[in-house]
Amino acid sequence: MNPDIKKNALVTGGSEGLGLELVRLLVGSGWQVVTDARTPERLAGNLADLLRERVVALPGDVADAGHRAELVGAVDRLGGLDLLVLNASTLGPLPMRPLRDLTAEQLGETIRGTAGANAALMIELADQLLRRDGAVVGISSDAAVEHYETWGAYGAAKAALDHLVQTFGAETGLAAYAVDPGDMRTRMHQDAFPGQDISDRPLPATVAPRVLALVEQRPATGRYRAADLHASAGVPA
Ligand SMILES: NC(=O)c1ccc[n+]([C@@H]2O[C@H](COP(=O)([O-])OP(=O)(O)OC[C@H]3O[C@@H](n4cnc5c(N)ncnc54)[C@H](OP(=O)(O)O)[C@@H]3O)[C@@H](O)[C@H]2O)c1
Repeated sequence: MNPDIKKNALVTGGSEGLGLELVRLLVGSGWQVVTDARTPERLAGNLADLLRERVVALPGDVADAGHRAELVGAVDRLGGLDLLVLNASTLGPLPMRPLRDLTAEQLGETIRGTAGANAALMIELADQLLRRDGAVVGISSDAAVEHYETWGAYGAAKAALDHLVQTFGAETGLAAYAVDPGDMRTRMHQDAFPGQDISDRPLPATVAPRVLALVEQRPATGRYRAADLHASAGVPA
């Protein structure tokens, strides 16, 4: 292990949006980061300036067991994991639609892609997290606790992820957080509101420091809203 490196993190979905900002911030703070995304060109392109530094970027789908094994192997080679951020997620079929217009397969795919896949990775990394007394952050949404038309499958997936992450915390004693980042100006948000002007939404770069402040402060396992956290203090207001 490189003695200059303080800590190790894995951030799923690090090629853009909140995941990319978290990777940038962690690397800037001296962390070694493993990350992934399904689209290799976007992953390599958007992380190009960081790849010479402390980032291992592995293209793949977190729902794919073989890809998850690659991620676990990369973390193993680093000697363990101080932070796992389960950020990769999709909205499901676009445009978003009422439950009656989703097939059973689409419903299952949406929940499996966000909750099942990320939780499987968390479980597969249990030993590496326990080795370093690591923390887990599951990126949630207000849709996990509120019920909006057309957001049913995505909201159910986020509610399931919240539950799985916090149960993992209760079972292992590790710090485990479900964090609602709030609205952010990203591709996912534009996909949810096609054709709408989303320029008033905060950039993910304003949210990432709040998420990492929470990790640094390490309060009790639970559900937190980024809007209630302070980047400097990291404790809920
Ligand atoms: N933006 C918002 O307003 C908002 C609000 C509440 C919660 N959130 C949550 O915040 C998190 C980040 O959202 P964002 O807006 O930054 O999203 P985004 O801009 O769409 O970025 C999502 C990232 O995840 C990757 N990804 C998606 N599915 C993946 C998979 N199965 N395996 C590996 N990588 C995958 C994407 O790359 P590829 O597509 O190439 O795989 C991309 O790097 C998500 O969990 C989202 O649900 C967002």
